[in-house]
Amino acid sequence: MQTYLKGRDLIGDLDFSREEVETVLDVAFDLKRKRALGESHPYLRDKVLAMLFFFSSTRTRGSFEAGIAQLGGHGAFIESSTTQIKHGDTAKEIGEIYGRYFDGLAIRHCDWGIGNQYINEVAQYSRIPVLNMQCDIYHPFQCLADLMTIMEKKGRDLRKRRIVVSWAYAASYLKPISVPQSLILQMPRFGMDVVLAYPKEFKLMPDIEAEAQAQARKFGTGFEITHDMDEAFRDADVIYAKSWGPLLTTTDATEGKHLQDSYKDWITDARRMSLAKPDAIYMHPLPADRDIEVTSEVMDGPQSVVYDEAENRLHVQKAVMALTM
Ligand code: CP
Repeated sequence: MQTYLKGRDLIGDLDFSREEVETVLDVAFDLKRKRALGESHPYLRDKVLAMLFFFSSTRTRGSFEAGIAQLGGHGAFIESSTTQIKHGDTAKEIGEIYGRYFDGLAIRHCDWGIGNQYINEVAQYSRIPVLNMQCDIYHPFQCLADLMTIMEKKGRDLRKRRIVVSWAYAASYLKPISVPQSLILQMPRFGMDVVLAYPKEFKLMPDIEAEAQAQARKFGTGFEITHDMDEAFRDADVIYAKSWGPLLTTTDATEGKHLQDSYKDWITDARRMSLAKPDAIYMHPLPADRDIEVTSEVMDGPQSVVYDEAENRLHVQKAVMALTM
């Protein structure tokens, strides 16, 4: 068990080793139990987490803010638009200065081609742990919550379990590609066979797909890519179907929307769920376009674990904060 994570950043999913992720999960399960029992756990008394947002959030903000308070600390919610960033404060200034005020610095910056670079630059100049609350490439805390949820439902030994990471149609906006990318990187390390499904224009970053394939080889798991949603769902244990933008094909919003609209039949419905194993679970990080990405029948049905999944954001984030700050 690797327990010394003090001072560490979590920006990419593979920044923590498999053993370190096991430690995070152990701590997360313990913190979940403590919260259920009403046991106080002020491991970060007097510590302050800065939460810098360049993009909106329901779950990430709520769970980080509640989490740091439950650990005895305080969360400072900072929207980039209310700072002097647009008037010239650089990533270096944020890293240097906030690194001196705060004990941890969590950032959400999803702009394509910018977000991950920005978070890494802040981390380069920061003396405190930098935590990625989602960028254009990764969403590591969502993925840790997903892993915890799958373990709760399927057991801690996930070898030979089949997870489908599928694109789904959405009408609202071109969503980031970070969630599927994080999933395909992390799940092979825990023994899961990954099936990645998307229409051809919705491919993920080639180096991420290649790294996911390398991880699958290293851990002796399966990794397949298909362009057929029905084929992907067959015999799956976990259905994780969500929309993302065709960012590797076009960054033009109108063209992207036109491409998305060509695949309106990529929806998770009861018929598709019936192709998976009878005890398969349905996952989505939310927000979802109801009755467009997924039918309400599935989302609110017995196979859906979306609210447990959202809850587990709280527990894994508290674990990482308690271990790193
Ligand atoms: N899943 C997720 O990150 O939700 P928010 O965008 O609401 O934070």
